[in-house]
Amino acid sequence: KQHEDQLIIDAGQKQFGATTCSSCGMLYSADSPDDNFQHTQFHQRFLDTIKFVGWKKERVVAEFWDGKIILVLPEDPKYAIKKAEDVRHIADSELGFQQVSLSSPSAAKTYLFINSDKMVVGCLVAESIRQAFRVLEQPVKPKDMTKEDFMEHHRAWCCSTEPKKAICGVSRIWVFSLMRRKGIATRLLDTVRNSFMYGSHLTKEEIAFSDPTPDGKLFATKYCGT
Ligand code: ACO
Ligand code: ZN
Repeated sequence: KQHEDQLIIDAGQKQFGATTCSSCGMLYSADSPDDNFQHTQFHQRFLDTIKFVGWKKERVVAEFWDGKIILVLPEDPKYAIKKAEDVRHIADSELGFQQVSLSSPSAAKTYLFINSDKMVVGCLVAESIRQAFRVLEQPVKPKDMTKEDFMEHHRAWCCSTEPKKAICGVSRIWVFSLMRRKGIATRLLDTVRNSFMYGSHLTKEEIAFSDPTPDGKLFATKYCGT
């Protein structure tokens, strides 16, 4: 019976073109055979990638009512590194990053937010840095410009030339599209500040975001209270 109901709902949405899959979050046009095919291709692979079965040894660095944060370090077992990499690839492809390798993989710390449904719904990659350039106020995106064009034009000059001392660089931060605005990115960053350097708590100023996206800037501006 449930299946029939689902078909009716889908048929209704067809008239409006775009549909967001309620499990994988992909936005696609149910009218288009191409889109449907792409969705089918993506759907299971995505869900398999973010599925977290649990490990014998997990480095749990924070616990919440709706999930936990685990830390993966370069010297960890292969299965842990593999999961961190796979999730990072998802984030990278969503961010449109071309290169899939980290600047210094041997020093990168990956923080994964696991929700109560055993899915990796957030990922943050942090690296040690010495200095950073402060992100300057960015002009608002004109309505007729795509996000990609805007990024292309503004990425180059969004940073000041005066270097600031920083300790921790966030090279990637990503939250599953269906789980955004629930404070997951905030909790990932709070946890990084507490656990990145053993025995010390980093201030917001000691954290730097590399090459932020428009979403990343909105979040970082709010988080840093600037
Ligand atoms: N638009 C406006 N404000 C925002 C947005 C947004 N898209 N995202 C976050 N904020 C602000 C809000 O004030 C929010 O508080 P509120 O929900 O109470 O209003 C506050 O930041 C905290 O947000 P969180 O819930 O902690 O952030 P979330 O878990 O949704 O994750 C993130 C934010 C990581 C930017 C997510 O939107 C995402 O994954 N986007 C796609 C990938 C991306 O662009 N990542 C940043 C790349 S930059 C880099 O990696 C260095
Ligand atoms: Zn789907």
